[in-house]
Amino acid sequence: MAKILVTGGAGFIGSHTCVELLGHGHDVVILDHLGNSSRVVLDRISEIAGKKPDFVLGDVRDRDLVRDTLAAGIDAVIHFAGWKAVGESVEQPLRYYTNNLDSTLVLCGEMERAGIRRLVFSSSATVYRSPAEVPVGEGAPLWCDSPYGWTKFMNERILSDLAVSEPSWSILLLRYFNPVGAHPSGRIGEDPAGIPNNLVPYITQVAVGRREFLTVNGNDYPTPDGTCIRDYIHVQDLASGHVAAIDYCLKHQGVETVNLGTGTGSSVMEMIQAFEQVNGIRIPFRIGPRRPGDAPMSFADPSRAAAVLGWRARYGIRDMLRDAWHWQQANPTGYQQPDIDRVPSAD
Ligand code: NAD
Ligand code: UFG
Repeated sequence: MAKILVTGGAGFIGSHTCVELLGHGHDVVILDHLGNSSRVVLDRISEIAGKKPDFVLGDVRDRDLVRDTLAAGIDAVIHFAGWKAVGESVEQPLRYYTNNLDSTLVLCGEMERAGIRRLVFSSSATVYRSPAEVPVGEGAPLWCDSPYGWTKFMNERILSDLAVSEPSWSILLLRYFNPVGAHPSGRIGEDPAGIPNNLVPYITQVAVGRREFLTVNGNDYPTPDGTCIRDYIHVQDLASGHVAAIDYCLKHQGVETVNLGTGTGSSVMEMIQAFEQVNGIRIPFRIGPRRPGDAPMSFADPSRAAAVLGWRARYGIRDMLRDAWHWQQANPTGYQQPDIDRVPSAD
């Protein structure tokens, strides 16, 4: 069993991963400035896991803090911390490049100095050139349509160069497809600030009465029902993928790039229908115009994850939509608490 530093561990994917790591007997230290998360999450993680993670409040770009945190016997790091809103990154590119690149540079510099060379990095399917041929394998051409995407691309480049420079590094670049759902307990889940950009949080907010109707972004795509197809993956599956990635990292050297997806695509209309069926709630929707930049179809070839990590997704969209609704119903306004501990320099 190992001691894992989880940057951004109070966030959506990080919190589920911390529960899973603790459940597998690992010790967990979370480093997060709570700029896009809440302190409430920490108690909920402890409650579900029956074990408390250590928590360090602060910024991954704070070199002294990272150095002190790594000195606490850390064996490996999962680096989730970063900003993630595609549209916002177009409006505020410097804020995105600064946070998403500096955090990795400071973290890896301090890891190198401490001789801790095992890292799992959160990348995204957004690095694939769109539209991609489906299913999308790791060797597909890369190109990004937003500063956010380029920060993932550049991080992958930096980390790959690092692994070449010092062969004892063990680095996993995990490209997530569309993470959705929540822990089945309903105690932790996705809590987007403001109007959700993504499909499933929007659906659950319509269901809970926070929004009047869903706008379907176009139904004239070259897909069977005309709406876009994505590879939705349960956040619980992503969490178990990170545990598998840590196990792999602890035993191997070099750099690996792995898709985390299910290999199955679902359309927007299929998601609405599945939500209605599994939860017994009608989702009012209207057909709107296409959203600029949307690819008609994207889903993963997940075979490399099975071959390298021995991991495959277990859950389908009905599970994701049931658990997302359970979370939203139990927490209609998310974690609700103001981010009292937000670090003033969080930008
Ligand atoms: P999230 O915003 O819920 O979690 C990120 C966490 O990092 C937040 O708690 C935030 O407070 C923290 N953070 C940000 N910058 C920080 C810094 N400099 N120092 C300390 N803490 C910092 O996001 P998420 O959905 O859990 O995503 C986690 C990672 O996965 C991100 O890197 C994201 O880009 C990547 N990813 C997410 C998705 C998705 O759809 N959710 C898809 C692909 C990749
Ligand atoms: N959609 C709607 N109505 C909404 C919201 C979304 O019809 O209110 C549609 C979108 O147009 C798209 C599909 O639902 O066709 C899925 O949209 P999401 O925003 O949920 O997911 P994306 O695939 O567009 O984006 C996600 C992440 C990005 C990441 C990208 C590629 O949010 O961060 O996957 O991995 F970059």
